[in-house]
Amino acid sequence: MHGELMKDIKIGCFGDVVGSAGRAIFQKHIAKLKAEYQLDGIIVNGENSCATGRGISTKNVHFFQHHDVDMITSGNHIFQNKDIYTYLDTKKDLIRPANFPSTAPGTGALTFTTQSGITIGVINIQGRVFMRELLSCPFKSAESLIPYLQQKTNCIFVDIHAETTAEKMGVAHFLDGKVSCVFGTHTHVQTADERILPGGTAFITDLGMAGSLNGMLGMKKEQVIQNFISQMPTKFEVDTHLPLVLCGIVVTVDAVTGRAKAIERIRIVDNDITVMVEENKR
Ligand SMILES: [Fe+2]
Ligand SMILES: [Fe+2]
Repeated sequence: MHGELMKDIKIGCFGDVVGSAGRAIFQKHIAKLKAEYQLDGIIVNGENSCATGRGISTKNVHFFQHHDVDMITSGNHIFQNKDIYTYLDTKKDLIRPANFPSTAPGTGALTFTTQSGITIGVINIQGRVFMRELLSCPFKSAESLIPYLQQKTNCIFVDIHAETTAEKMGVAHFLDGKVSCVFGTHTHVQTADERILPGGTAFITDLGMAGSLNGMLGMKKEQVIQNFISQMPTKFEVDTHLPLVLCGIVVTVDAVTGRAKAIERIRIVDNDITVMVEENKR
């Protein structure tokens, strides 16, 4: 038994925050959401939060910390900015996919403690289908981390950063009953399949993103389309046009058993935000 408090906890999980646009809508709404849902903790995927939309800087980490984020997850873009390696190695509140070689900076699982004194474990893994196929098995990587985290808590959240719906769903069913929640990230498009699986694990195939709604996955659509047509290297920049979208879930978990009690999808579209256009540089 972990913790003396018989309490439900509510954790907000938000999908890939893309560049200045993603940060702008996150900044505008997160305090309100935290109060409205009485969130005990906030988990955010920050792999696209830097100025270029690819990677995360220590400045971005400080931004999330300033906005009450408890754990930042990531994915395939995490090693893009070398300046984040040192921070990753502090193993504080930023994790990278656990199934990278152990020689990579940082770690794939960490815990944080809510103000009410509940410990939450968070695991980050990356899919292999249509992605880096030489990574270790994401299923087995996540599974192997669970006994370690269970020494501290039954409340475990898993970010499966993957391209295909099947790989995300497979991980969720594989971990059903062993963790509180499995959420997918990376595709930046929110899916409407949130539910609690038979074993008590909350699941959504993809959280969606924070960024420009009518760009492409948060980037300027013209550049992405040009890349498809020309098949030549193309510069991609963060789209800062309105409206912006902020996507995520709120999961209610029994803090003692770690079983999910509810999962609710959040999607906010906002047409009234000032977005800074940042130089497309790291
Ligand atoms: Fe992403
Ligand atoms: Fe990604």
